[in-house]
Amino acid sequence: MAIEQISGNWRVGVLFSQTGVTQAIERTQLEATLLAIEEINAAGGVLGQPIEPVIYDPGSDPKKFRSFAERLFQVDRIRLLFGCYMSSTRKAVLPVVEAHRGLLFYPTLYEGFEYSRHCIYTGAAPNQNSIQLAKFLLSTYGNRFLFVGSNYIYPYESNRLMADLVLQGKGVVLDEVYVPLYPEAKDFEKVIGRIKKTSPDVIFSTVVGSGTSNFYRAYCAAGFDPTRLPIASLTTSEAEIAEIGVEAAEGHITAAPFFETLSSPAAKRFVARFKDRYGAEAPVTAAAEAAYFQVHLAMRAVAKCGSDDPEQVLINLRDAEYDAPQGRVRIDPENNHTWLWPRIARIDRQGRFQVVWNPGVRIKPDPYGVVQSLDDWSVDDVPLLRS
Ligand code: ACM
Repeated sequence: MAIEQISGNWRVGVLFSQTGVTQAIERTQLEATLLAIEEINAAGGVLGQPIEPVIYDPGSDPKKFRSFAERLFQVDRIRLLFGCYMSSTRKAVLPVVEAHRGLLFYPTLYEGFEYSRHCIYTGAAPNQNSIQLAKFLLSTYGNRFLFVGSNYIYPYESNRLMADLVLQGKGVVLDEVYVPLYPEAKDFEKVIGRIKKTSPDVIFSTVVGSGTSNFYRAYCAAGFDPTRLPIASLTTSEAEIAEIGVEAAEGHITAAPFFETLSSPAAKRFVARFKDRYGAEAPVTAAAEAAYFQVHLAMRAVAKCGSDDPEQVLINLRDAEYDAPQGRVRIDPENNHTWLWPRIARIDRQGRFQVVWNPGVRIKPDPYGVVQSLDDWSVDDVPLLRS
């Protein structure tokens, strides 16, 4: 096996927004990425050489994501890139990654229906969060849904899939309302008006970023009771709760493979290290957890083949497993997505997620929704190695 980088650092690209609409959640991804890099470097680096992150702030803007990706590959000569939260930014970056035959590690839940052999997807596909959430909501709250989302690709596509699931559950989607990515107070006044008029049993929100706090606060101010009519989301994480505040966040629901409050030793160790590094108040999110474990997975693959050549790394990522904070994860060799552990949690009086549903199984990713059934999301019966 050729060791291509005998001297010099392992330079990797890091693109998470420190400004703009999704900066709160992307900061947690940046911090987790750097935490993993620091851990690897503290343990001697990769084959004796440290990892050197090259970091830019693309400001939650797809155009900036694309131009910084160009710069990273052309000027900084990186080959592995860690980054992106919004699907619009992933879609802006991927053609650049493909043109340079690089490899993007994408640590965010998304709408599915995508495959690039130049991307490793470590966030949840819809069969690892949406199906379980739909089933939970239908059986707990009722079958009259209202969808509220930010105006871009992930909410449209995620809602399309959720609508299919609601129909399967003999439910009805009363309306689908979109607000701008940078919403104003009047946008949520309209949403509140629609909720009052349609009287749903449950609200499915695909609002992302800083607009989330405006939404949940407007909802609280309007006097709705989340114990009877919760907002359910896949994108309201610990980072958004910190912006929403406890009072307006309590009672709402999120599905994700990781929550800061998980009680397993691996989760506790990760959260303790994260807070040690970034402060007690630093939110630790599922998106951060994926950002963390994907660096470890990627750099293990680099160590195995002695190269950051994306083709070599890809070969060494096939079926790769890692004991992540959420449980043991695995890269699926068929679709470059990740086997993950679905969970659903409700926000308690302290603003902390309490898990209300945890099947204790690891789910094979099915990004194209081959099996898209409320009653069969397990897809495959591979024995689980660890909880
Ligand atoms: C997302 O845009 N994938 C949250």
